[in-house]
Amino acid sequence: MEFDVNIAIIGGNSKIASAIISLLTKETTWNLYVYSMTLHQVSTERIQYKAIPYAELKSWKEEFLSVRPDYIINTAAMTNVDACEDRKQDAWIANALFAEQLSRIALIIEAHLIHFSTDYVFDGAKGPYSEHDQPRPISYYGKSKLAGENAVLKSHAKNTVIRTNVVYGLTNDKQQDFVKWVLDSADAEKQINVVDDQYSNPTLTDDLALAAKRIIEKKRCGIYHIGGNTQCNRHEFAMEIAKVFHLDESLFIPIKTKDLHQTAQRPLISGLINLKAHTDLGISFSTITEGLVRLRHQMHVQNQE
Ligand SMILES: NC(=O)c1ccc[n+]([C@@H]2O[C@H](COP(=O)([O-])OP(=O)(O)OC[C@H]3O[C@@H](n4cnc5c(N)ncnc54)[C@H](OP(=O)(O)O)[C@@H]3O)[C@@H](O)[C@H]2O)c1
Repeated sequence: MEFDVNIAIIGGNSKIASAIISLLTKETTWNLYVYSMTLHQVSTERIQYKAIPYAELKSWKEEFLSVRPDYIINTAAMTNVDACEDRKQDAWIANALFAEQLSRIALIIEAHLIHFSTDYVFDGAKGPYSEHDQPRPISYYGKSKLAGENAVLKSHAKNTVIRTNVVYGLTNDKQQDFVKWVLDSADAEKQINVVDDQYSNPTLTDDLALAAKRIIEKKRCGIYHIGGNTQCNRHEFAMEIAKVFHLDESLFIPIKTKDLHQTAQRPLISGLINLKAHTDLGISFSTITEGLVRLRHQMHVQNQE
């Protein structure tokens, strides 16, 4: 691939963006332009960090007309599922309208838009789901994300939608995921209720980053389901975390989703079939054991730095 490829990464503080930035910095010579609501990092020769409010369409247009990214990777989203139910307008702006606006800008500057979406576009009645299954969201988060991916897929800009589920990996102080919640609870010797009726295939952020890189290298368009190689429920996932990190398994109490009385409904039998991504992108996705062992090593290195 050419030397001076420009990649814009939006939602720079997200977990998935962190993994993408880390991989692309190590394995490519591409120029990275990383965008966030708030600026935390100092720019380097390779990575320009910028803050642009998501609502300022004019600023995004001006910025991209100047930078001329070849690829725009959008990881930004309102990802708190219950908050989306309570604050529907905010969810619509972040998850649907912003994606639509980005696809318009991508068309004008002839950039390829890679947009992240979710298994929550499905109802969880009969997962795991393939790219050919019909979405039917049961939460406002799922509805707003489906509207966002439809806006991207229907636009005339070159586009790819990556759907993923239950993302975990190396995090910083400000990021949160399921594995961190389990580890922090165990650290505090606190018992937690973990649902045993929500099924998914947890996805390592490093695998998602590799998928994004391969999509760029192979110039792939359309929908890709990216998920790990273990289909399990959340309690089984917590038990595997306990095994790999030597935690007290009795801290994790199985519970049913309905007993949590959450604001938004969750898809129960979900998960994403990764066959297309495996064959077309040439990626062997991690099982939860492989992903957690890798994460344990990365955390060890992080603690020594
Ligand atoms: N985590 C999962 O398990 C999961 C599962 C399925 C799909 N996904 C999708 O994958 C993408 C990235 O997920 P992630 O878990 O890496 O994201 P995350 O860590 O929750 O971060 C989301 C980022 O979006 C930006 N943002 C824009 N509007 C926002 C708003 N109204 N409220 C909060 N944040 C807002 C913020 O970035 P800045 O601070 O940089 O502006 C924030 O750091 C999203 O599209 C999500 O829908 C995630």
